[in-house]
Amino acid sequence: MNTAVSTPLTARRGGPVQGRARVPGDKSISHRALILASLTVGESTVAGLLEGEDVLRTAEAMRALGVRLERGGDGVWRVHGVGIGGFAAPIGPLDFGNSGTGCRLALGAVAGCPVTATFDGDASLRQRPMRRVLDPLERMGARVMDCAEGGRLPLTLQGARDCVPIVYESPVPSAQLKSAVLLAGLAAPGETTVIETQASRDHTERMLKHFGAKIVSRVHGEHGRRITLQGQPELTPANVVVPADPSSAAFPLVAALIVPGSDLVLEAVMTNPLRTGLYATLREMGAKIETLATRDDGGEEVADLRVTASALKGVDVPAERAPAMIDEYPVLAVAASFAEGVTRMRGLQELRVKESDRLEATAAMLRTNGVTVEVEGDDLIVHGKPSVAGGGDVATHMDHRIAMAALVMGLAADNPVRIDDSAFIVTSFPGFVELMRLLGCDLA
Ligand code: S3P
Repeated sequence: MNTAVSTPLTARRGGPVQGRARVPGDKSISHRALILASLTVGESTVAGLLEGEDVLRTAEAMRALGVRLERGGDGVWRVHGVGIGGFAAPIGPLDFGNSGTGCRLALGAVAGCPVTATFDGDASLRQRPMRRVLDPLERMGARVMDCAEGGRLPLTLQGARDCVPIVYESPVPSAQLKSAVLLAGLAAPGETTVIETQASRDHTERMLKHFGAKIVSRVHGEHGRRITLQGQPELTPANVVVPADPSSAAFPLVAALIVPGSDLVLEAVMTNPLRTGLYATLREMGAKIETLATRDDGGEEVADLRVTASALKGVDVPAERAPAMIDEYPVLAVAASFAEGVTRMRGLQELRVKESDRLEATAAMLRTNGVTVEVEGDDLIVHGKPSVAGGGDVATHMDHRIAMAALVMGLAADNPVRIDDSAFIVTSFPGFVELMRLLGCDLA
């Protein structure tokens, strides 16, 4: 990605969104597949890996830590793991680019290993909170040798020689935080427990099981989970098939809902219930999303979805649903702009610490395109109507999801929508522009 030169892009209203498409592999699962396979002893194969900028940074970081990774073909990677505690000290800093997931998960994996590594990232990642991850990792025996203000990147972490298991009550519903603790817990003797009052995506738990770890997840309170991992397991190599990313599928899906006459099939979209809050919300709004076929694809359920243009109405989105759709609010806000009536999205505080302050960036994207929107505390309130003026110039703030959401808006708005920079789209959705064009969208 060339971050020095920005690449503006404009979306215009055109014909319907039509055809069949399979979006790239899931970003969360791709990061985890590379990191967990690195912690086994032996060779694992990952198929359908998302070869987006974020995941490629994780692959590079694993290489720098002494893991051999080979790309066999499109999305097929062989990983020769070094075992828990087997990382080598990297020579230079590990650069995670734009990726919070890669960075936080790797912090956890390194924390359980007696090496010292420096973690860094781009201007967006350097702004994001790392303290939340460092606190439990320090309790487990890792040491922060150096960091920027507030525990931010660049930071140097010395992994624990004797990692200590902990019981950790997570203050935020964050799968990255939970995963960092669990990955460090692999190196600790005895049980490491993470308690979350609101369940976050459970791919780490599922995949740890897949690689042979003993891990139990129980219901905790009304919306939470208590996850217990047995430390120092013998992780065994295994193959992983990465399903299509529901967070990426969200963009063509919402485009098909709001562009009149559209009829689109999205293939093999992962339907893990901790990831599909957007789909539930859109259905409440009146979206016609039909499940054509479901199957199990390597431990995760996937479905082919048929989406047709729909008249949407505003709804109230409860705060408890936020973890299951945390990355989808920008594009939900676009759908809400075209819906009849008010949509209130509650409890979006975590959106403020994403690749950008996504709450403000989403509100600004809508406002500049003539939509009435309010931010009330941590709630986003969108006053929708079936016709949206558009014509806005959207500031993307190094945020791929703001970029794609704004382009989707332009496909149905009265006037073109321009984004200042499309370069960051490759962090999660390489081929987005080409795929949307194949489906009939006017992006230039
Ligand atoms: C992710 C968890 C979420 C999400 C991110 C991917 C993961 O972040 O926003 O895109 O793969 O664990 P938080 O854990 O910080 O909420």
